[in-house]
Amino acid sequence: MLREDSEHMGAETRSFPEDFLFGAATAAFQIEGAAFEGGRRASIWDAFCRVPGAVINGDNGDVACDHYHRYPDDVALMKRMGLQTYRFSTSWSRVRPDGGALNPEGLDFYKRLVDELLDADILPWLTLYHWDLPQALQEKGGWTVRETSDRFTEYALDMHDALGDRVNVWTTLNEPWCSSFLSYTAGIHAPGHYSVQEGVLAAHHLLLGHGQVVRELRQRDADLKLGITLNLTVADAVDPADPADADAARRIDGQFNRWFLDPVFRGSYPGDVIDDIRAVDAAAIDALEAANRPGDLEVISTPIDTFGVNYYHGEYVGGRPPAEPVTGGDAPTPRRAASPFPSHEAIYWHDRGLPRTNMHWEVQPEGLTRLLQRVSDEYAGPAGVPIYVTENGAAYDDVVEGEGADATVPDVERTEFLRVHLGAILDAQQAGVDVRGYFYWSLLDNFEWAWGYEKRFGIVRVDYPTQERLVKDSGNEYARIIAARALDA
Ligand code: NOJ
Repeated sequence: MLREDSEHMGAETRSFPEDFLFGAATAAFQIEGAAFEGGRRASIWDAFCRVPGAVINGDNGDVACDHYHRYPDDVALMKRMGLQTYRFSTSWSRVRPDGGALNPEGLDFYKRLVDELLDADILPWLTLYHWDLPQALQEKGGWTVRETSDRFTEYALDMHDALGDRVNVWTTLNEPWCSSFLSYTAGIHAPGHYSVQEGVLAAHHLLLGHGQVVRELRQRDADLKLGITLNLTVADAVDPADPADADAARRIDGQFNRWFLDPVFRGSYPGDVIDDIRAVDAAAIDALEAANRPGDLEVISTPIDTFGVNYYHGEYVGGRPPAEPVTGGDAPTPRRAASPFPSHEAIYWHDRGLPRTNMHWEVQPEGLTRLLQRVSDEYAGPAGVPIYVTENGAAYDDVVEGEGADATVPDVERTEFLRVHLGAILDAQQAGVDVRGYFYWSLLDNFEWAWGYEKRFGIVRVDYPTQERLVKDSGNEYARIIAARALDA
């Protein structure tokens, strides 16, 4: 239930600007299910889920939240919560099941979804790639080969043919760090490879695909709002004056943030990270230099209209191991065998006593304020591009109290997480950052990749055996904040 207004009397109210957008986000593979219906074929995630030990409990996306069949109810739920916008992704494997020929039935699903959103007065915010590459393309080399960038561009044009008249905001890629280094270097995400060279090549071809799509779509329609979403962090050194600690923080910032920010906004790769990677795998940099053809970085840095920041937590790192072992980094997955950070042996996670979520991630809202300020000062601001927080959220072990119509999920920690991060955005705005929207991750509990269904991020609980939805206390609080367009301090 929403809290009584009287509880808030006398509290200081901090309002959001009139044009600030409140939304929630999901991704196709994590919620749709219907994995082999309507002509859809396997993506790399369908294949990866079948690798023994790749995903906790052997979970897969075959049914997920069954959103493919339940989307009208899910949209109705969004409307009841007052969401102004919904960030979702389209599944390449549904639309071009082999990465090639078009599947009109797959496309129809997204036409129906978008119509449903527009009827509900919810702005559709479409992401073209949220990690589910058609397996047929992986078999031809996946993102390590240049052809995949071209296939991606063709698929984007199909989507635009079908939805360009009704969808105005398009995100090319979600978190390319994950679909390159976490997937091709660390082996934690699909396709589960362990190669620095593949990670570097995948990142380049993902970014190239991004730039090509922005160019093509812009040519077709100058009014579209085109952008990319990166997962970014703030890397704090245990002792900034200690060169080893400072270097660990620089490495994280370099490979996680600047490896993607620099090409997109400045048309170059950061030289210090090139040197770091060359030191551990010179062949990887040789391969990148061969793959990076003249003009690529110009394409990659094609101007964008929106910039998406996904922020979950900061990193507190040093150049030497902590005295006591730390349950930091990510919660373990079955395949945590290699690090996505080349030269990882020089980076150690420490603990600074912040609370942590179920993913072992620190709750560090002021990191979001600092991150937004930095992105605004160094990248988006000079380019005149508004920032949107396209993901932010927390996994906790939720407990259902009561039954039937009286059931509730008193997720106190997630409610607080949501509030303090919205506060952090207001702080950034106050400091002059042009941040125009917030999407909570996620609308629904869903398939959390290598962690399967064990980690629940939703503001709406999904009971997987019955597929029943239950708005958690955090969802009710979000609805209240959206209705008031304000946060009371
Ligand atoms: C980022 C990803 O975009 C999303 O797919 C994932 O579920 C969340 N982070 C939480 O880990």
